[in-house]
Amino acid sequence: MTTALTFTHLPHPAPVSAEDRAARLVDPGFGRVFTDHMVTIRYTEGRGWHDAKVEPRAPLSLDPASAVLHYAQEIFEGLKAYRTDDGGVCLFRPEANAARFRLSARRMGMPELPDELFVGALEELVRIDRDWIPGGDGSLYLRPFMFANEVFLGVKPSSEYLFITIASSVGQYFKNKAEAVSVWVSQDYTRAAPGGTGAAKCGGNYAASLLAQAEAIAHGCDQVVFLDAVERRWVEELGGMNVFFVFDDGSLTTPPLGGTILPGITRDSIIRLAQDAGLEVRERPYSLDDWRADAASGHLREAFACGTAAAVTPIGTIKSGQGDFTIGNGGSGSVTQGLRTALVDIQRGRAPDRYNWVRRVI
Ligand code: PLP
Ligand code: COI
Repeated sequence: MTTALTFTHLPHPAPVSAEDRAARLVDPGFGRVFTDHMVTIRYTEGRGWHDAKVEPRAPLSLDPASAVLHYAQEIFEGLKAYRTDDGGVCLFRPEANAARFRLSARRMGMPELPDELFVGALEELVRIDRDWIPGGDGSLYLRPFMFANEVFLGVKPSSEYLFITIASSVGQYFKNKAEAVSVWVSQDYTRAAPGGTGAAKCGGNYAASLLAQAEAIAHGCDQVVFLDAVERRWVEELGGMNVFFVFDDGSLTTPPLGGTILPGITRDSIIRLAQDAGLEVRERPYSLDDWRADAASGHLREAFACGTAAAVTPIGTIKSGQGDFTIGNGGSGSVTQGLRTALVDIQRGRAPDRYNWVRRVI
């Protein structure tokens, strides 16, 4: 099937004024400020990918029988464009997001968008909406997604799909930025079971996590921690981030990829950075009981959440139905801070890109 699509450009006739945009970029938070454009590509069985467009961002018109509204056949990605000190713009490992998007599509019975179209869509959007990238610590969060759009109520993979990329000017994901976050361990609800869709980035996984996230918020926590669905014992990941543990011997542990957690691109990057800094990284099961005991004994020194939205954020307090505990001096420490700085400096073009992770767009 041909992938040699060119994007038709339909620039916004009345984009947000420079003054209004500047006001929205002062304190954008996360996921509420959107740019002027979006990129769309359509897929129809028998015809393949077609109608690639850069167009004004606008509400969609969907038939009420559109398959996604009933059976949730939907996947998404998340990555950021960063402004560099010399005025350029970089994407961080977009090819890895393209590959994960294909894997998510395969698991959900959807067509696989060729990587060059996925990355091409990102580059088109970043170029046309470059003025929406905030300065300072901010970035442009890119949200490619695809959903089933056949008008049919039969339960089967759709014959039509719409791929869209939108962009949001963002600051920090967590409001209390420099501090450690608190997490609530969900012992009643699980996120993903063996054979399920845990390793795919599909909207359904997040729908399944929301009640547990609401519990976390009700307990005064920032994020929910999920345990494995079989034994309800092993720490898997947070609602929207992977997790690492740092021990007094300098080693790191992170739960292994086994099909029930999302293979985070930040997780993969942290493993590389830590190993190249001479730290031992173990991908092994780690239980809630061990977490509590190691925090009490001092064997566990630091813990952190990592992901595109959160970068690297220390975890300080852990709450659960069986009591609360805290880590060391509140969670943060030199290993977490060192890895965060190493990662962010590469993402923002301040440190040499030894791994060929950064893709310059402008
Ligand atoms: N786990 C979940 C459930 C997520 O939603 C995310 C965010 O994308 C991650 C982990 C981290 O993935 P990444 O580092 O690729 O952003
Ligand atoms: C991301 O970090 O990109 C995520 O997807 C986490 C959350 C915002 C869904």
